Amino acid sequence: MKAVVLAGGFATRLRPLSCTRPKQLFPVVNRPLLDRVIERLVDHGVDEVILALHYMAEKIMLRYQNEFFSDIRIICIKEDRPLGTAGPLKLATRYLDKEPFLVLNGDILTFINYRDLYEHHLKCGGLATIAVKKVEDVSRYGVVELDERWRVMRFIEKPKGEVKSKMINAGIYVLDPKVLDMIPPGRKVMLEEELFPKLARDGQLYAYRYDGVWVDIGKPNDYLRANEKLLEVEAKPHNGVIMGREVIVKKGAELIPPVAIGDYVVIEEGSRVGPYACLGSRCFIGKGCMITDSVLFEGVHVGDYSAIKGAIIGENVTIGRWVKIERGCLIGDGAVVRDEVTLTQGVAVCPYKEVKESILTPCILK
Ligand code: GTP
Repeated sequence: MKAVVLAGGFATRLRPLSCTRPKQLFPVVNRPLLDRVIERLVDHGVDEVILALHYMAEKIMLRYQNEFFSDIRIICIKEDRPLGTAGPLKLATRYLDKEPFLVLNGDILTFINYRDLYEHHLKCGGLATIAVKKVEDVSRYGVVELDERWRVMRFIEKPKGEVKSKMINAGIYVLDPKVLDMIPPGRKVMLEEELFPKLARDGQLYAYRYDGVWVDIGKPNDYLRANEKLLEVEAKPHNGVIMGREVIVKKGAELIPPVAIGDYVVIEEGSRVGPYACLGSRCFIGKGCMITDSVLFEGVHVGDYSAIKGAIIGENVTIGRWVKIERGCLIGDGAVVRDEVTLTQGVAVCPYKEVKESILTPCILK
């Protein structure tokens, strides 16, 4: 089985954190999302993964062209301009011309069974099958209306008015190679806008229902939610605490499950970390700190008596003493937040910026 992973988008909704890394390399419980996606594909029998890249392609190529994934071939294809969600498939045609293949948005944390989806596609016999999921608010998604045989009767991208169905496109597909002939070459083409509505009209689009874990990490809140979901699952067999190598937790410091602590982390006395905190490797947490509902990337330094709640803190950020960082704050890589600063809800700090004064209204600090 072959799979194309779409991983070339600009990730604008995750700025400023995505200014320095593509979202597929954002850690989810301390490992890049794309590592997890590739591993699951391999578990379900995929032996060739094509990474469709554009924005910050080099960062992804550096990792996956050198990293050893046993029994799997990884091919990186870089678009010289963004080709959308279907254009990259046309570009990859020479690797895809024999059997049906999987296509996935590379920004989704899910436990879907790819093998099952693939077999469902073969059974249905259409040109394409899309994984669908039931949600309450369908307005942000592509909505599918189905008949009783799982055939998609209508595909409506981001509906404006009322729609009958609550089933949405989960961003995971199996396509027959014949679909490649329908994609015009050399320009941006979206599966959701140009191909799926047409395939639905032709009676060639089927659905596969999946109701398990599925989180699109495209927005900061959803990224935090993906970490929470996975933390619950992965910490369970470890009594709620995932502990890296050579971690030092000083006397009187408390870890409140579920929590994930990366390698070489130091937590000083009197600090409380968790619930729902992920600390990347080499983080240092000073005395008397409180960290909850947050993700800290690698190498974050937090000074004594600081509090972080519901925030995402980029790599190698330095946070001073007595700092307060509130819900929804996003701190770009390498930023410095000086002593006694408070950042109110929803403040975003650009990479390498120094913040010397409190910010009490939501804004982007450039
Ligand atoms: P936003 O700018 O925040 O909307 O993010 P995005 O650019 O990633 O767009 P979106 O979340 O809609 O993309 C869904 C998936 O398709 C993600 O995995 C993207 O990386 C991928 N994607 C989007 N556009 C392109 C593209 O032009 N080329 C490739 N190769 N992948 C893309």
